[in-house]
Amino acid sequence: MNSFYITTPIYYINFSPHIGHAYTTIACDILSRYNKLLGKDVYFLSGTDEHGQKVEKAAIKASLKPKDFVDKMSKNFKELIPFLGCQIDDFIRTTEDRHIKATQHLWNKLNENNQIYLSNYEGWYSIRDEAFYSESELIKKNDEFFAPSGSPVEWVKEESYFFKLSEWQDRLIEYYEKNPETIRPKSRYNEVLSFIKSGLKDLSISRTTFKWGIPVPNNPNHVMYVWIDALTNYMTAIGYPDQQSDKYKKFWPADLHMVGKDIIRFHAVYWPAFLMSAGIVPPSRVFAHGWWTVEGEKMSKSIRNVVEPFNLVDVFGLDQVRYFLLREVPFGNDGDFSKTALIHRINSDLANDLGNLAQRVLSMIHRNCDAEIPAPASFSDDDQILLSQVDDLLQQVRGSMEQQACHDALEKIWAVIRASNIYVD
Ligand code: MSP
Repeated sequence: MNSFYITTPIYYINFSPHIGHAYTTIACDILSRYNKLLGKDVYFLSGTDEHGQKVEKAAIKASLKPKDFVDKMSKNFKELIPFLGCQIDDFIRTTEDRHIKATQHLWNKLNENNQIYLSNYEGWYSIRDEAFYSESELIKKNDEFFAPSGSPVEWVKEESYFFKLSEWQDRLIEYYEKNPETIRPKSRYNEVLSFIKSGLKDLSISRTTFKWGIPVPNNPNHVMYVWIDALTNYMTAIGYPDQQSDKYKKFWPADLHMVGKDIIRFHAVYWPAFLMSAGIVPPSRVFAHGWWTVEGEKMSKSIRNVVEPFNLVDVFGLDQVRYFLLREVPFGNDGDFSKTALIHRINSDLANDLGNLAQRVLSMIHRNCDAEIPAPASFSDDDQILLSQVDDLLQQVRGSMEQQACHDALEKIWAVIRASNIYVD
């Protein structure tokens, strides 16, 4: 119980990092720091998702060999982490040998447990989402089909290995009904449960039309579907397949996979099914946060509105950006990023509330008390009221942080800051 294993998703490296990636990493860093303060032995993992068709296409576009391309792009994500004031324990890349070994081991386990069969896939695939979609999920616009995310889809027909996901439907429902805390926020729990109840089909888990992936053991014509490869990273980093290693025993199951709402299905349906099929306990919680738009629009290269975290921090400052991202939007909801909103938060919360309080209290001590905090005299009623608010704060903030409600913890802290300003008045 005294350990805490937290993970970011591993990032696709087809483009440079943007504010959405920074958001997930900063949120995890805050939760990691909080758990360290509780005295827990924290393991915080991040990394890059380097295989699959999307990355292969990006490498071709950049006229680089996939390996050279991923080596170059992964660095941007790795460097961003300390730049954001985040401290991780390991940075995993899915092209590393340890990960290829771990993923092939998991595949072999699924195979041994009779969870995999060879057949043919025919259906829709979105390269941008790296996801298979059934026709009923698609949106039709001008006679063309699109994924629910708006990404283009293409018709795929190829030999494929399948994972017997359909056999896990009832067990997943039973698992989630018994363990409702494992998916947060509650709205995402409901979404996942109704997706499972709507019927699970077997999942295509290998591809033959490109090569940039982990080879399927004993059949080199196939590479693994990028999501079975990617999800396994969470175990590779703590030593899988060595399930007797100290790290693995201490940190598995993961306490918290932090993900964006777009990838909840992979984490809360496919991943626990793979794990249960291999006889492994699923993670204790998956939390899905919302998405940022920018000045009201979806972030996109084509409309050139991508907010780059390196630049943003250079202009506005690190603590300011971290504070804004976690304070502006209730954690779990979508939010809109705008420079006006960021400047407003900096001016009103940080400069006006916190800055003023520090300035007023410190200069008063400096001016009137020889720059030393005097020993307390007897407390007045006003003193008592403020002190009791401060005393309650720790418990209240703990309550919020246990639910990953960072915005709420900040709001509670700011209520005391505002009360302190009134007290000084
Ligand atoms: N590679 C997969 C994850 C595999 S985890 C085993 C992936 N990568 S991603 O780079 O596309 O996205 C990584 C994370 O960034 C996701 O959690 C996603 O939700 C988040 N975000 C991407 N764009 C975002 C916003 N505009 N706003 C907030 N978060 C966003 O998915």
